[in-house]
Amino acid sequence: MLNFEGLAQGSVQNKAAVAAPPTPVPVINAGSGYTGAEVMEMNAHRITVDEKAIINCRADLNQLVPFKYDWAWQKYLDACANHWMPQEISMSRDIALWKDPNGLTDDERRIIKRNLGFFSTADSLVANNLVLAIYRHITNPECRQYLLRQAFEEALHTHAYQYVVESLGLDEGEIFNMYREIPGIHAKNAFEMQFTRELADPNFNTGTFATDQRLLRNLIGFYVIMEGIFFYVGFVQMLSFGRQNKMTGASEEFQYILRDESMHLNFGIDVINQIKAENPHLWTPEFQQEMIDLIKEGVDLEYKYAEDTMPRGVLGLNVGMFHDYLRFVANRRFKQIGLTEQYPGAKNPFPWMSEMLDLKKEKNFFETRVIDYQVGGALSWD
Ligand SMILES: [Fe+2]
Ligand SMILES: [Fe+2]
Repeated sequence: MLNFEGLAQGSVQNKAAVAAPPTPVPVINAGSGYTGAEVMEMNAHRITVDEKAIINCRADLNQLVPFKYDWAWQKYLDACANHWMPQEISMSRDIALWKDPNGLTDDERRIIKRNLGFFSTADSLVANNLVLAIYRHITNPECRQYLLRQAFEEALHTHAYQYVVESLGLDEGEIFNMYREIPGIHAKNAFEMQFTRELADPNFNTGTFATDQRLLRNLIGFYVIMEGIFFYVGFVQMLSFGRQNKMTGASEEFQYILRDESMHLNFGIDVINQIKAENPHLWTPEFQQEMIDLIKEGVDLEYKYAEDTMPRGVLGLNVGMFHDYLRFVANRRFKQIGLTEQYPGAKNPFPWMSEMLDLKKEKNFFETRVIDYQVGGALSWD
């Protein structure tokens, strides 16, 4: 009441202050799930596993256990076991090669710069989508625990690109503005940004048929298309340098990033499939067709990116190989979320990627890499 001392007794202000009822607690996310910012009710009943749900859940989100989705907690543990930092990788050989006028061809330099340009912004977009768009709508604490870990890893990835750019003495303005200056990079990022903008709107809430589908669309846009398709031309290109014993530091950064991204993708697919399992009414034939068209649009954008980064064959790669590869990868993505493969018979021209990626031997890949990292050894090129 101290603030009102000195006001004339009986003044309107004073009466209002004394008589005011407790401020009502604003309802957050009305009509949809809890956010975790609700009032903490003393002595409320204890939460059971059966009350938990991946979206639109109205059980307290501020307690991690009891677990409902063990796969989400396990992925969080696996991600922590894979911890790495960008500056642990030496860039000294890369710097010598980059500075040698005869060290790399113009086409090779173009590929490196374009990929740094694309990825440096793409990982910021993914991080922002996690924090600004999807986190609020995933109403499960163990999934959120993984999202928090993923968000940190996206920060590490952006850090890795900055570290490579700085080490090589590249023009940071040129690299970090490519998403606004190079059409093929801009097109991919603008495609993704539409998903974030929609869900980041404070007026957007899940809890209706239409908005729950929009959340699924965002998850497919980011996990399946951005992290599951848009990264793959760049990964093949950057890992190809390492296989030829060139730019081995940058390649190793990308290999660690690929390992993280592969886990992000697998987590996203589990989330998408869990939402589908709990809300089968959302997965209508019309919505499935919309998602098929969206993924095919992503494949086309990624193929244009391949053409832009690689106008001529280089490193034993050519753009026709990416035509096949992207269809092969997209088939895998369709299947992973229960859609029909759209490119029958597409072949993988880079079987060596399957050794390192999630495509065939994901368990082996992670197991060996986890051991490599935990004993402090460097990654080796098979
Ligand atoms: Fe990332
Ligand atoms: Fe990621």
